[in-house]
Amino acid sequence: MTPGQPHMPAALLQALTKRLEGRSRQELRSRAQALSSGYRLHATTAATIRDESDALSYALTRMPATFAAVAHVLTRLAEIRPDFAPVSIGDVGCGLGAATYAAQAIWPSLDRALLLDRSAVFLKLAGELAQESGASLLGQAQFLNRDFVTSAPNIQAELVVVSYALTEAPESALIESAERLWASTGAEIFVIVEPGTSRDYARLMRVRAHLLLKGAQLLAPCPHEAACPLIGDWCHFTTRLSRSKDHQFLKEARTPFEDEKFSYLILGRQPAARTFSARLIGPPQIGKAGVYMRLCTTSGIEETFTARRDKALYKEMRRKEWGDPLVAQSKETE
Ligand SMILES: C[S@@+](CC[C@H](N)C(=O)[O-])C[C@H]1O[C@@H](n2cnc3c(N)ncnc32)[C@H](O)[C@@H]1O
Repeated sequence: MTPGQPHMPAALLQALTKRLEGRSRQELRSRAQALSSGYRLHATTAATIRDESDALSYALTRMPATFAAVAHVLTRLAEIRPDFAPVSIGDVGCGLGAATYAAQAIWPSLDRALLLDRSAVFLKLAGELAQESGASLLGQAQFLNRDFVTSAPNIQAELVVVSYALTEAPESALIESAERLWASTGAEIFVIVEPGTSRDYARLMRVRAHLLLKGAQLLAPCPHEAACPLIGDWCHFTTRLSRSKDHQFLKEARTPFEDEKFSYLILGRQPAARTFSARLIGPPQIGKAGVYMRLCTTSGIEETFTARRDKALYKEMRRKEWGDPLVAQSKETE
């Protein structure tokens, strides 16, 4: 299962379009600009999303990207655990529910959703959009106004996703918050998606090391549980999404698409059968003679080259994308 070009659900986009009727795009554009400069400076949502206009500008300019990133990661989970069919999801730091919408598209088995956030503004709009778009899972969801840093979230779910939210936890509370979420939710699968920056990668690696010590099993992206072998670089992935006209206008962007960078961890309570022994950690470089790849493998970072003359193997490797797992490293990378 390869992550495709994920789009937010059509019914949600229609509900959003309705909400935007009669609203000044110029006003939303200045809100969006304030939002992105805030996020660039690591300002929290509490400081940037103060009313519905801010939340709508988030829905137009950031949610398509966070949705695409979390959809990519959850597709990776479905790839590794094709048997996993969760009935319940906990969306922690849910914002407008990007992770729940993405999960719903992958697992029709989902029947119960708990969405938790400390932003009353986001929760209100998330609930209203869920009703207006007729979303079955989100329409019945429980929305909880809680802070996962200052209190133990009272949620139990098989799948718990924390998407672009741990990034807002203060440095001093990062490990404790992650451990509490892992322990208190009882999640069979615990997914963390973070912005693809060196700062968030470094924080994620601290969370990774700590939760592994607490017994978590690492399902992805790493093909091993040793310390990350990357030096002077950070592990991240990218997904391309198309921009709507409003998105383009609000961002003053010339291109009708953007690339969203993200880092992630998929942890399980039980070990999963290892279905891959390497992962592509950069874009494949296709040259005249063949294809170069940078892989994270069970024995560290490897640069590989597959010659064009090895027709069958070359054809297979050419189709690989940044972030893809490689099944049998010795066969595929020699
Ligand atoms: C950048 S938004 C991401 C929203 C959504 N998960 C997404 O992927 O689009 C970060 C969200 O995390 C929430 N958040 C951050 N820290 C939180 C905390 N300590 N407790 C609860 N929610 C928190 C914010 O209020 C905000 O809704």
